[in-house]
Amino acid sequence: MEFLLIKDNVADLESDSIVFFCYEKQRLPAAARRIDERLGGFLSDKIKLSDFKGSFGKTILVDTPGDFSTKTVLLLGLGKKEDFGSLEAFRAANIVVGRVGNHSSTISVDFSNVDRKFLKVFLEGMACGAYEYGKFKSSGRKKNRLKKVCVTSRKISANYFDKEAVEASAISRGVSFTRDLVNDPPNILTPSVLAEHALSISKESEYLNCKILDREEIREMGMGGLSAVSFGSSEPPRFIHLSYSPPRKSSKKIAIVGKGITFDSGGLCLKPADSMRTMKMDMSGAAVVLGTIKALGKLTPDVNVHGIIPATENMTGASAYKPDDVVTALNGKTIEIINTDAEGRVALSDALSYAVRLGVSEIVDLATLTGACIVALGLHNAGVMGNNVNLVNSILNSARDVGEKMWELPLDSELREGIRSRIADVKNIGGRWGGAISAALFLENFVSEVPWVHIDIAGPSYVEKPSDWYQYGATGFGVRTVVNYIMKR
Ligand code: BES
Ligand code: ZN
Ligand code: ZN
Repeated sequence: MEFLLIKDNVADLESDSIVFFCYEKQRLPAAARRIDERLGGFLSDKIKLSDFKGSFGKTILVDTPGDFSTKTVLLLGLGKKEDFGSLEAFRAANIVVGRVGNHSSTISVDFSNVDRKFLKVFLEGMACGAYEYGKFKSSGRKKNRLKKVCVTSRKISANYFDKEAVEASAISRGVSFTRDLVNDPPNILTPSVLAEHALSISKESEYLNCKILDREEIREMGMGGLSAVSFGSSEPPRFIHLSYSPPRKSSKKIAIVGKGITFDSGGLCLKPADSMRTMKMDMSGAAVVLGTIKALGKLTPDVNVHGIIPATENMTGASAYKPDDVVTALNGKTIEIINTDAEGRVALSDALSYAVRLGVSEIVDLATLTGACIVALGLHNAGVMGNNVNLVNSILNSARDVGEKMWELPLDSELREGIRSRIADVKNIGGRWGGAISAALFLENFVSEVPWVHIDIAGPSYVEKPSDWYQYGATGFGVRTVVNYIMKR
């Protein structure tokens, strides 16, 4: 998608649609009033006839009369001005694409009444809104035609616009890439194919490098957790290490770790059919790591970033790992398997230990780890837990900046008792309550003293009930937060 800043009057532009915003209890922007006058009040008539009051997400879409160069004008309510933030900016952009993207390839957006600090998130929202996953439709037809977004605002300089537009493009390409990986069906996107994707990303930029371990190497290295989870599958596992090193030398070194279960059947503790559906999305954390590093290759921030992914299926084959098994993770800790469906944490134990070995100064992990996190927070918020208050707060702030919803859950030490094992160092599940927290407490065993934050993205990674601002399928949730976080380091 192409983004342009236009200095001309919005009404003089050659575009298929013009978009205006209106806050609750505020007048239409001046440019909209001018067009309305010029076209004999066609817009104000429509507003009078409808109950449009500018509340958030309400739209009026009108065909322009006569031979006016633009086909349609869209008016979008932004709600109360004081409530308008990044979340609303991102959603507004998605709504715009939803309303005009099917009939417009070029649109002009009057941004004069929106704070320029929301420009980047808005552009990200435009690109994300235009995303389509059409690979497996034999018709090959796409619903969305939007290619070019022209923004007008006197308050935005060319320099500011270009910087934001370039970043928004890199970030939204990362998000689309993440969504493609998650949407890909599990017979196509196997662990080895995921690794191939990591390898091809590494070839996009001289600052990226990729190392992949196969089944033998994973075992030899001592990754007993990832190995165990992979035993039930005939698809070989992969351990993926995709790293970014900046053009200018930097001593900062961060690890981002993503759960890469390309399909979670539950293993021998088999999931019921209804819960198994959508479990191709159990590699969303891994996809966020790859989408983020893809974007970093373009954005070139001054920090070393190590993307680490344990990738495997969780299946029920003859050699599958079993309840009562004891396995040894890369850091030497032993894990008693109680439930084979709590596989993500078992695979992540090795990935986190590996990150510690790299000598990073902080670890961020993303995982579709628990249904319990969805029970606690619902589908729209990720759960955030960690061993370092500053790191947790930085992630929460980065999420708020880009309009991704995350909420902190306590790493309550009273739940530690639940994952204590009689025969090994730790059990892979805890008691009945607080499952998202028990899972995080389990992970804590593998991060040593390194500042670490865990983001449980089980809820927001995948949408089954679409809305005006969420399409069906993968969301790419997490990429924008983590990129923003890294850019601020
Ligand atoms: N991949 C699931 C968690 C999940 C559930 C993600 C729903 C997205 C949507 C995870 O591996 C799992 O199965 N967790 C179990 C843990 C339980 C066995 C302690 C769960 O949440 O039920
Ligand atoms: Zn599971
Ligand atoms: Zn899982």
